[in-house]
Amino acid sequence: MQRTQEMTSVQPDWENFYPRPVSDKIPFFSRDGRVYDCLFAQQFSRDLLTLLFRTADALRDVTQKKDGADHVGSLLSDKRAMLYFVQPSTRTFMSFLNACHILGVRTSEIRDTSTSSEVKGETPEDTVRTFSSYVDMIIMRHPTPGFVEKTAWLMNRTGRPVPILSGGSGKDQHPTQALLDVYTLHRSFNGDIDDKHIVMVGDLKRGRTVRSLSYLMKNYKKIKLSFVSPAEFRMEADILEFLKRHNIPFQETEDFKGVMKTADAIYMTRIQDEHDKAGESKSVDYSPFYFRKENLRDIKDTCVIMHPLPRRHEIEVSVDDDPRAVFWRQERNGMWARAALMAYIFGVDGKIR
Ligand code: CP
Repeated sequence: MQRTQEMTSVQPDWENFYPRPVSDKIPFFSRDGRVYDCLFAQQFSRDLLTLLFRTADALRDVTQKKDGADHVGSLLSDKRAMLYFVQPSTRTFMSFLNACHILGVRTSEIRDTSTSSEVKGETPEDTVRTFSSYVDMIIMRHPTPGFVEKTAWLMNRTGRPVPILSGGSGKDQHPTQALLDVYTLHRSFNGDIDDKHIVMVGDLKRGRTVRSLSYLMKNYKKIKLSFVSPAEFRMEADILEFLKRHNIPFQETEDFKGVMKTADAIYMTRIQDEHDKAGESKSVDYSPFYFRKENLRDIKDTCVIMHPLPRRHEIEVSVDDDPRAVFWRQERNGMWARAALMAYIFGVDGKIR
């Protein structure tokens, strides 16, 4: 994983680097043409996704037997990872943690800045740089937009860079959630994601999972997207412009019932009111954007119902028993997809497949 001299010598300061198009920045977060820091869904090509899905499938298979699990558990037993999750998380944290354990990576964690020297006035940047003195990889979730990217950018300018994997960054992106979401589509449709109508529902403005998932759609052919949201929470213009640039047809609507009939996948999301500035979510009627048990009659037999979770009321619990509800499987897919990604980043994935 050699970094070229060019990368270190020509990079501008952060204020000039950050606003650049993601496509221009990707090389700085790559090594030898491979993803090194995982920050943006745009880093995943179709070939890479296919490779990661094969690795994830192999991991599930091989680890069913103890000798296989022991083999996989030895692959990265010389590595240590820090999980720095200073924004609440259940499944991203747990799935990364257990993905590390599957591969033998030893882990440490900070989940609350009040337990780190940040309370003594150390900057978050210095805190994160400190981790790299002890570990070989940092997995992080942070509420500040751009902070995960800034960490990777900083680390790549030091003499001891380590891969940075985003577990969710502000309202921007949640690239490994998109990875597991597409892995779930891949498994649900027997590997054939092309030519599907995908309906994303809810708070699309502030949901980082739907943003990252939209970016990944560029890897598949003849995809149609429907964005169903309250007027206040429509998908942001940067994503719509990206879709136009990549000739991915989309519609925006509030008519959930109208579009669910032709959906191949319905991707539900909760209201993201943690981003409220003054309780503005309270004035929005979110109930038209719920999936209720009665809606099971309205969707195709082959349609899958997804959700990044956690949910509130946007999917009735009684829907869970329907075979088309795949969100609990989707959650578990996250562990395998994240383990496959880490194996790829450290170059041991060929010993799994
Ligand atoms: N989907 C997701 O990111 O869940 P957590 O917030 O629980 O990690």
